[in-house]
Amino acid sequence: MIGAPKEMFDAIYNAVFRQVFSVIMKVMPPPAPKLYQGQGSAKALCQHISDTEVKSLLIITSAELVELGLLKPYIDLLEQLEVSVSVFDKIEPNPSISSVKAAIDSYHQHQCQGVLAFGGGSVIDASKAVTLQIGNKVPVEKLVGLFKARKKAAPFFAIPTTAGTGSEITSAAVISGENHQKMFIVDHKSIPIATALDSEPMLGLPNFITADTGIDVLTHAVEAYISKVDNPTKIPLAINAVKLVFENLPKAYHQGRDHEARANMALASFQAGDAFNFMGLGFVHAISHQLTAFYQVPHGRANAIVLPYVLTASFDAIAPALARLSIAAGLANGETNQRTLAQQFIDQIKSLLVEVNIPSTIEKIKTEDIPSIVKGARKEAVGNYAVPYLLSVRECTNILQQLQGK
Ligand SMILES: NC(=O)c1ccc[n+]([C@@H]2O[C@H](COP(=O)([O-])OP(=O)(O)OC[C@H]3O[C@@H](n4cnc5c(N)ncnc54)[C@H](O)[C@@H]3O)[C@@H](O)[C@H]2O)c1
Ligand SMILES: [Fe+2]
Repeated sequence: MIGAPKEMFDAIYNAVFRQVFSVIMKVMPPPAPKLYQGQGSAKALCQHISDTEVKSLLIITSAELVELGLLKPYIDLLEQLEVSVSVFDKIEPNPSISSVKAAIDSYHQHQCQGVLAFGGGSVIDASKAVTLQIGNKVPVEKLVGLFKARKKAAPFFAIPTTAGTGSEITSAAVISGENHQKMFIVDHKSIPIATALDSEPMLGLPNFITADTGIDVLTHAVEAYISKVDNPTKIPLAINAVKLVFENLPKAYHQGRDHEARANMALASFQAGDAFNFMGLGFVHAISHQLTAFYQVPHGRANAIVLPYVLTASFDAIAPALARLSIAAGLANGETNQRTLAQQFIDQIKSLLVEVNIPSTIEKIKTEDIPSIVKGARKEAVGNYAVPYLLSVRECTNILQQLQGK
């Protein structure tokens, strides 16, 4: 199918997807992890682990975090609490299937009984794939897709060290295949048993990663709020996450060791994750995932650059929702009309992007790649997200051309 008939078919398919997603979230809501919060809460989570039957733990992390010495206090504490610890520190950004498999080998080799993820979204996602595979005894490739796990995961705990993905509460794990294409494992069984939102391990996060991951939070909250799946209990979380990002990201960026700003960003990340887990994402993620696959642009950075373009291209359909969101998040007082309020909100996002030094273009986008990027983005959006407006091939192409900045 080509052209208009294909776009019409996609619109129908997306409407059906939206209904199914909505029903699944009502009849099978994801569970929430037990939450430890505040300075020192990562240590409370270690105490929690020692109170379980897990006496031999695999900590999955990335080499940078070990080199920065961030993990050591928790290893020492766990060992004092008589939990023996092995460390697998080879998780890279956009984790690959081969790293997941290597971590599984390490788990078996050290006869572990559970996993603690200590890292950003990449580490938490890889750990989800590891624990689901161990619990289900099937190759991780068989878990790709929606709700493929039959059995529960191996015991799994998470300490996020970025305030970005919200992976510590979502049902999703994003793993990269051989060709860098992202594969999604979506399963409520992947959610950790317990998690700790602790500012301590986040204090030294470099400012550019703080910016990228912080705008990922904003993107999650905005895409969840404007999605066509509604959830009255999760809407306030999306609103609060937007408010927290505007109030705290500049401070976390400029004064990284500010505990309060870091803690508020960690909470924003968790709440935005909770919101999008129930209401879904949208075209910003659909496009940004392609840009990561084609050019290895970091996840948060790609979203941050794409966000204002997608909001602008979808403007007519989403202006009322953006206006409501900006008033609810305290960014506007509602004295002007909805279109003006929505435009002001997009302008405030652009100002925040400038403040945290996010560029507005991705010059390495090649003109000859654009048709494949557009095809991949539309396929992802049509089949996975309750988008408020289904951007056409022409509109997506236009966004990619603007992103080139020529
Ligand atoms: N599961 C979900 O729901 C979900 C949602 C959105 C994105 N994702 C996925 O998450 C991944 C991105 O995760 P991310 O944005 O958190 O980045 P990341 O985990 O890839 O980390 C980025 C970099 O920051 C470093 N780092 C992490 N914490 C640090 C700290 N405290 N101090 C110093 N350096 C630190 C890491 O080692 C890495 O080099 C992508 O693969 C994306 O597709 C998952
Ligand atoms: Fe994201």
